[in-house]
Amino acid sequence: MTVPATPLAEAAELADPWPVLAALRESGPVRRLDPRLRLPVWVVARYEDVLAALSDPRLSNDPHHAVALRSLLRGDFLSRSMIGTDPPEHTRLRRLVSKAFTARRVEALRPRVQQITDALLDRITPRGTAELVGEFALPLPITVIGELLGVPAADRERFRAWTDEVLDQPFDPQEDLARVTAARERMHGYLADLVQAKRARPADDLLTDLVEATDEGERLDAQELLAMTFLLLVAGYVTTVNLIGNGTLALLRSPDQLDRLRADPSLVPQAVEELLRFDGPVNPGLTRYAVEDLEIGGVTIPRGDVVLLAVAAADRDPDRFPDPDSLDVGAAGPGHLAFGHGVHYCLGAPLARLEGQIAFTQLLARLPDLALAVDEDALQWSAGGVLRGLKELPVTFTPTP
Ligand code: HEM
Repeated sequence: MTVPATPLAEAAELADPWPVLAALRESGPVRRLDPRLRLPVWVVARYEDVLAALSDPRLSNDPHHAVALRSLLRGDFLSRSMIGTDPPEHTRLRRLVSKAFTARRVEALRPRVQQITDALLDRITPRGTAELVGEFALPLPITVIGELLGVPAADRERFRAWTDEVLDQPFDPQEDLARVTAARERMHGYLADLVQAKRARPADDLLTDLVEATDEGERLDAQELLAMTFLLLVAGYVTTVNLIGNGTLALLRSPDQLDRLRADPSLVPQAVEELLRFDGPVNPGLTRYAVEDLEIGGVTIPRGDVVLLAVAAADRDPDRFPDPDSLDVGAAGPGHLAFGHGVHYCLGAPLARLEGQIAFTQLLARLPDLALAVDEDALQWSAGGVLRGLKELPVTFTPTP
């Protein structure tokens, strides 16, 4: 198995990335991708190495450490978000919103998440066919995070189109720069208007809280506010769409596990963890930047280079998970790296778990005889650099009134 120039560059690799990820894991602790790439990228793919790297302060989340990226980042408001900064900036930014995502606060959202889920399924169940990404996996989290932040329902479609453009970055970001820059500017304009609207008409939502934090003190500046809003909105749904989409497909491909879950819905919380491990939204992995020369597994990674921590490969490492390529909805529980690890551990994990658990419980309860409506080869995958998910998931089931 040859290791490709860019991970998952080919459509076939997107449909079945596991042999490539296994090859990366087996080829050594660290692997340099094709040297023709303008950006030097190293891949770490074994569980223990990825876990250690995720809490190594020499590996920064701040892309400004990558010399080749600096000119691209000038004036880029998105790189001012918590996910693109290191402590102490990161600590300050994360603290501003962490209270909104505690397990207790998120639990209070349960009835509303349940209601949104039911309403989406009410439209689907009488029909017998559905496109589950567009009609269910996507509108569920986008509605939840949109309501939490206070994004008007009418704007969500527009916002989604821009997000797709912003996230649809080539692996070598110097290509197609004009397109990505234009999308970012549109997004910047939209978010600035949204903030203005909240200032004019404060509401009981997270964005109003953030605007007040910006206006009252110096805890958050204007650019940081826009970056935070973008991050929360985007991180709040693009990943969860893939959890529901990839997870449903994984269950359809393992009918024994689907039946087991249907027969015993108390397994759903465990099943969600297993689906995150088995085919999580973040694939191939998370990007870091070397702040100094550092050694991993005997290989020196020069300062300024990019390091891809392939969590999707780590989560199928046979040294960590017995029988990693089989889905087992009763498997013992977390330990997976789908939400990351260390200071950047997913802030929205409690919310994602809540949404995932409600989504799978209701899907199985309300769509009997769920089956794929197309040949598996016809399924299309999209990848936004670090994410991998189904574009569409056409299904059939027995209709219910
Ligand atoms: C960070 C995965 C859902 C908000 C992260 C990270 C991962 C991740 C791997 C770490 C990034 C890094 O280390 O560079 C996921 C997955 C989700 C999900 C798999 C769904 C299944 C959500 C939701 C929210 C959210 C619903 C809601 C707002 C965030 C934020 C960060 C983050 C704000 C940045 C945290 C920081 O930098 O300290 N997520 N996420 N995520 N996630 Fe999630």
